[in-house]
Amino acid sequence: GVGIYQGSDGYMYCDGLRIDDIRAQADASPFYLYSKERIRQNYQAYADALQGLDSIIGYAVKANNNLKIMQYLRELGSGCVLVSGNELRLAMAAGFDPTRTIFNGNGKLPRELELAVENGVLINVDSEFDLANIQAAAAKVGKKARVLIRINPDVDPQVHPYVSTGLAGSKFGIRNTHLQWFLDQIKADSNLELVGAHCHLGSTITKVNIFRDATVLMVDFIKQIREQGFDLKFLNIGGGLGIDYAKKGEVLPTPKDLIDTVRDLVSSLGLTLIIEPGRSMVANSCAFVNTVTGVKSSGRKHFIVVDGSMAELIRPSLYDAYQHIELTAPHDSEVQTFDVVGPVCESADFLGKDRALATPAGGDGLIVMDAGAYCMSMASTYNMKLNPPEWWVAEGSQLQQIRKGVTLEDWMRVYEGL
Ligand code: LLP
Repeated sequence: GVGIYQGSDGYMYCDGLRIDDIRAQADASPFYLYSKERIRQNYQAYADALQGLDSIIGYAVKANNNLKIMQYLRELGSGCVLVSGNELRLAMAAGFDPTRTIFNGNGKLPRELELAVENGVLINVDSEFDLANIQAAAAKVGKKARVLIRINPDVDPQVHPYVSTGLAGSKFGIRNTHLQWFLDQIKADSNLELVGAHCHLGSTITKVNIFRDATVLMVDFIKQIREQGFDLKFLNIGGGLGIDYAKKGEVLPTPKDLIDTVRDLVSSLGLTLIIEPGRSMVANSCAFVNTVTGVKSSGRKHFIVVDGSMAELIRPSLYDAYQHIELTAPHDSEVQTFDVVGPVCESADFLGKDRALATPAGGDGLIVMDAGAYCMSMASTYNMKLNPPEWWVAEGSQLQQIRKGVTLEDWMRVYEGL
């Protein structure tokens, strides 16, 4: 098997290894565990889907910024999408080709923009002040800035409001009513080269016709922009493809479904397509592995208390997100309805609610699945829960640590000399 799955013996596996054996070897808890092969297959699904199109796969680093994972995706041929100067530095450390790298965001800082211009990274223009900052950065660095214009197409991605980004009321991008002003500014500045248009609708999207609708609108903008003499090369349709969190056998669109719905539009214009997948590249490659501390009941309510928490994995608390939970070993104990909670001091600290699970004992393993995207990268240190270590299984059965856990010593270093 590949990825995180239940074997026919009832144990949970990561590729060829039993997670319980990995728990014994890792000698740490909680921790993140990845399947390197699953990441490869996810990348390959995009690469295959894009066959015959000029394209850049811009992996959205915000989903998971583990340096080893970034390096691996770069080796496979990926570009990347960044939202901060530190993500940009990390991408350079991972060896990404700057010309296949996009710097995006509504609040890019002048010093971050200078770094991007210096490195020749593609930059998205998000607003009037952002354009002014990009112009200033290009002038200061003495280099041309290659920019894309981020258009807010006002298309509803039909997802949680916190992960909708391309609606009229969103803080991201430029409404088309202002487009001409931006084009005039860019035309007048010899430090700027307008090379493309970008949009991003949201995340966890499960209907590809939404991407089609947005692309139809974007194609119109591209035509308008080209009519004014700009030599646009890139159409960037962002990221956002959802994954199967629910595990109820629902058939979700694949990268191929996504690309096929926009292929004709992109090729008819002779454009290079940029896509920015984050979640669909890494989410299902990973389990967040916990140890059960104990089981308790309060009246009719039953709780499994584990050592992981909202500090390491906040998606359930923040978005009411469902991530599937399994015990790592088969049990013949009573199946009950549990809330799976951590030790953090507030009621928002849960990893799952109302889950039918066998009753575990203290010391047993429990995993939260699909934890490869927006889990470790959104970890906090609330209650001094320092960031956990990460491992992957490589070549089917090689357990390798890909990040160390933060120690109290690391933590105390910021006070040195004060
Ligand atoms: N490109 C842009 C401009 C984005 O804003 C995002 C995500 C992506 C690409 C990648 O989208 P993906 O393929 O991963 O859906 N923290 C939330 C997700 C926030 C997504 C923000 N933007 C979560 O845990 O669900």
